[in-house]
This record gives sequence, structure tokens and C-alpha cells, in this order.
Amino acid sequence: MKRFQGKTAFVTGAASGIGLATVKRLAEEGAQVYACDINAALLEEEINALSAQGGAIIARPLDVTDSDACQAAIAETVAHFGKLDVLCNVAGILFFAHYTDMTLNQWNRIIAINLTATAVLCQAAIPHLLKTKGNIVNVASIAASSGLPYNAAYCASKGGVLMLTKALAVEYADRSLRVNAVSPGGVNTPLASAVAFPEGASMDVFGRALPLLPMMAEPADIAGTIAYLASDEARFITGSEMLVDGGTTAI
Ligand SMILES: NC(=O)c1ccc[n+]([C@@H]2O[C@H](COP(=O)([O-])OP(=O)(O)OC[C@H]3O[C@@H](n4cnc5c(N)ncnc54)[C@H](O)[C@@H]3O)[C@@H](O)[C@H]2O)c1
Repeated sequence: MKRFQGKTAFVTGAASGIGLATVKRLAEEGAQVYACDINAALLEEEINALSAQGGAIIARPLDVTDSDACQAAIAETVAHFGKLDVLCNVAGILFFAHYTDMTLNQWNRIIAINLTATAVLCQAAIPHLLKTKGNIVNVASIAASSGLPYNAAYCASKGGVLMLTKALAVEYADRSLRVNAVSPGGVNTPLASAVAFPEGASMDVFGRALPLLPMMAEPADIAGTIAYLASDEARFITGSEMLVDGGTTAI
């Protein structure tokens, strides 16, 4: 399948996990990709390896909490590739803490990376996406609509991503701009492996966040869903949350 031949995509969080798998999938399907991440060294290493297999990918360091740099990165994408068709907001962080132990800095950081940066990049990209009748795919989480313990800031940030997605979908539908969200459950990435539960955490409550299917999702499972929503096959889907959670939220 080459659903993205002649299309340009912008992907954040591109050095690792779901973002990297998304760059790979979109490039395999013919897209020109602007891949960015705060981890410049890992990004360069991973994108060099991907570029060696073909595909027009440019890798740029970007801290998504720097709104001027986000604006400049979108402008550079359009200057370099001539247009923008797809924005994938994938970069994100997670930490676990008892709510009363969480610092204001931790709260601000998670909201800045997961939610505010997504909003800023959507704002920068929309004028270009309106010209191409393009679309946005934001990575939310099952934490956007299910309360996960020791995760209040993350839940609040992802709930915000989901509602930002729906609000933009409604606002821009009449101009054929689609905006959707993918909500993974547990995915086998460095973010998930680094989870450390706070002392005294109750596994009884947390156990409800586990998938029903007897396996963990791989980054490629989420990237495949992102690619579907970003493709013309999903031309009638907007304002949607696609859960890719192995049944976690089915019960
Ligand atoms: N892995 C899971 O179980 C899971 C579940 C649900 C949702 N998600 C979401 O999927 C997205 C991708 O996560 P992942 O699991 O691939 O994690 P990951 O840690 O493998 O990748 C996240 C990437 O985001 C980058 N990043 C972090 N802060 C950044 C910043 N300020 N600017 C630019 N880049 C930054 C990191 O360097 C990293 O490369 C996140 O939004 C996460 O919340 C993950």
C-alpha cells in the first residue's frame, strides 16, 4: 500500500516507540516525513537507519514545549517539502505519583508536553492543512477517558488532547479538515517500561488498566491505526477516538 505517495507528514516524538513506528509506516507508504524529537542523538541514529532503507525523511531536534520552535518547524516543513498534509502529535511523557506528592513543576511539565504542545502544533499547522484538505492525528490514551490511579496529571493532559481533537474536528469540518485521536492502552515502548509505581500503590485498582488480550501492543500496532486515520480511507472519520487497547476499556 502506498496511501501517502506525494503527501507530507510531520511527526513529533519520532525518536522512539510509537512516533518512530509512525515515521517508518508513513515513509514506507510513500510519505515525505518531517520527524522531530527532543532527543536529538537518538533521533539522528534512528532516522539515519530508516533513511538508509529509502524514503524522504528529515530529522530535526525539537522541544515541543518551545512554541516558537514549533511554529518554525512547521514553517520549515512547508518550505522544504512545499506543503503539509498530515500532522501527528505523538510526543508525550508519563510519570506515576500519589496525587498529593506531585509537584506543581511535574504537573506543568506533563500538561506542557502532552497537551499545550499538541494545541500549539495544531494551531501552527492548520493554515497549511486547510490548503491541502489534510488532517491531524493526536495520540491520546485510554487515560483520556478512564481514570488511572497515580496518573492524575497524565489523565488530565490526555483528556485535554481528546477534547481538543473533538473541538477542532467540529470547528474545521466544513473546510474538510479532519482531526482524530488514537488512544492506546499499554504499548511496549520505553515510556511503558519506565513506569515505576509509587510506594503503597494498589495493584488491585491498577489491574483494571491491563489489556484483555493476552499480549502487549507493539508500536507498529498504533502506527498502523495512525496511518489509517491519516489516510484517505478514513475520509469520513473526524472527531473520532480510536481505541487500540486490547479490550481494556470494553468492560
Ligand atoms: N506506551 C504506552 O503504553 C502508551 C499508552 C498510551 C498512550 N501513549 C502515548 O503515546 C505517545 C508516544 O509514547 P511512546 O510510548 O512511544 O513513548 P516513548 O518514550 O517511546 O516516545 C516518546 C517520545 O517523545 C519524546 N519527547 C518527550 N518529550 C519531548 C519534548 N518536550 N519535545 C519533543 N519530544 C519529546 C521522547 O524523547 C520520545 O522519543 C505519548 O503521547 C504517550 O502518552 C503511550
